[in-house]
Amino acid sequence: MSAELAAKTEGLSVSGTPVFVDKVGGSDEAGRGTQEAPFKTPVAAVAMMAERQGEFTVVVRSEADGAYEEITATALKKAKNAHELAVKKAKKQAEQAARDRTQIEAQEAATAQKLEESKQIRLEQDPALAAAKEIRIQDATAHRGARVRVSGWVSRLRTQGRDMMFVVLRDGTGHLQCILSGRLCHTYDALTLEPEAAVALYGVVREVPAGKTAPGGHELVVDYWEVVGAAPGGSEAFGNRLNAETDPSLLYQQRHLVIRGDTASAVLKVRARVMRAFREHFDSVSYVEVTPPCMVQTQVEGGSTLFAFNYYGEEAYLTQSSQLYLETCLPSLGAVYTMAESYRAEKSNTRRHLSEYTHCEAEVPFITFEDLLNIIERMVKDVVARVWAEPETRAMIEQLNPGFAPCDEPFLRMRYEEAIKWLNDAGIKRAEDGKDFEFGDDIPEAPERKMTDTIGRPILLTHFPGPIKAFYMPATKDDPRVTESVDLLMPNVGEIVGGSMRIWDHDDLAAAYAREGLDPAPYYWYLDQRKYGSCPHGGFGLGIERFLAWLTNRHSVRDCCLYPRFVGRCQP
Ligand code: 4AD
Repeated sequence: MSAELAAKTEGLSVSGTPVFVDKVGGSDEAGRGTQEAPFKTPVAAVAMMAERQGEFTVVVRSEADGAYEEITATALKKAKNAHELAVKKAKKQAEQAARDRTQIEAQEAATAQKLEESKQIRLEQDPALAAAKEIRIQDATAHRGARVRVSGWVSRLRTQGRDMMFVVLRDGTGHLQCILSGRLCHTYDALTLEPEAAVALYGVVREVPAGKTAPGGHELVVDYWEVVGAAPGGSEAFGNRLNAETDPSLLYQQRHLVIRGDTASAVLKVRARVMRAFREHFDSVSYVEVTPPCMVQTQVEGGSTLFAFNYYGEEAYLTQSSQLYLETCLPSLGAVYTMAESYRAEKSNTRRHLSEYTHCEAEVPFITFEDLLNIIERMVKDVVARVWAEPETRAMIEQLNPGFAPCDEPFLRMRYEEAIKWLNDAGIKRAEDGKDFEFGDDIPEAPERKMTDTIGRPILLTHFPGPIKAFYMPATKDDPRVTESVDLLMPNVGEIVGGSMRIWDHDDLAAAYAREGLDPAPYYWYLDQRKYGSCPHGGFGLGIERFLAWLTNRHSVRDCCLYPRFVGRCQP
């Protein structure tokens, strides 16, 4: 015992072993009742005494440096009462916990037994019923009243009591509410059914009773069913893999699951309809579809975004654009188009740049620059009109982009030089030095979007200066500082189309290679076009994902393709 402690207990004479309680410095949890480790409350002291043999005396001090004194009889009684109460409460709690445990164990045993028994329940098709015809959900209306078989995935699942299950089935063509009742709900498969399981359901499609709603206005009253491929429950359950709190970066990692959702699948469906509409449009104006190679040895849009790879020992690239190949098709096929993947090693992580995107490109012979602008405007309007005319596609666009309406008015036509003036008048400055934009500056993404969003309608932005554009773009006759080039800008997205007339004179093109420091040798075939019957021509490229981001109001082009590729992501 330290000298200090000894001094504090000096003069204290008690009959039993002292149990120390220091109301200021003690601790009921860590204390042992000794002078070195006192308790904080007399209740803890009483609890200790109740557990041990022997004669004890509780000594207490109420001030940090005060002397210990024997506890008063009243205080001791109060502490004993409090201790008894605590003991009783703990006992009750322990009894309750034991009862709960027994109940849970009984429930688990009952569930296990029910599951075991359910394995004995085998469903069989009633031979008296009509044979079921395999249909897809989109055809359900035409089969109301008939017995059908529908296969798909459990999109939503609700159990009502022991004898009712509601399954919303999804098969890619739509959703169908299905009702299972009685024995159909008692099988092992029914008791272990989880969302996203693949199932085949047999029954009769009935119109829903008045006052009730269901997708398509009908439901399948099931008379037989089977699981085709089960889905796990518990921690592996689909709902635990993806939920509203899932980090957006994880959503791209889990994109194979995300695309099962209503929103992602609607975008993919609109995408399919949009690509079909482009093909229909080009068909309607008699452009021929071609499929140029993706592995190339020439650049189109500058060396900085080329993806290079080793091609049997030679350097090759993934194509940035099929334009040069389309140009070679003009003399044999006339106007042509393609919808192929293009690749850009874009180092920046923006919401409108992908490393791989679907590029819809067209090339047309014997046109003027004015013709080219009209061709682009007509195409965009016609494609929108085609998808808008399909009720199902229109409904999906309205769901994804409420308030969208096809643009009837002419697209605004604006020269690059006017855009520079617009930005300066609007007080928008260059990010790098905070100064006004000058003729010759590239207009970056943010100011371009600000201008487009403010103007609020499609803009055909034309006549960009040569030095900021590709080597193949010709200077305009009236102002050689600028080229016959165009970008189509859309509100919320910015540029969705880039196009131009092409230098069609052989020597001018050769001079352009020299100016850009490009070796003309790998482009021998492109130069040959200018040797054998050259003609004025032009074309454009449209990014399908950017078009969709505009049409379906998606924040990022990453949500407008199946498996987006961007910096740091090449999976799934
Ligand atoms: O303006 P760009 O680079 O033009 C060309 O490639 C021309 N050779 C096309 C032609 O005239 N045949 O690209 C055309 C369009 C852009 O307007 C944009 O919509 C899309 O392609 N695009 C991209 N989309 C997603 N991610 C990227 N990294 C893109 N780069 C271009």
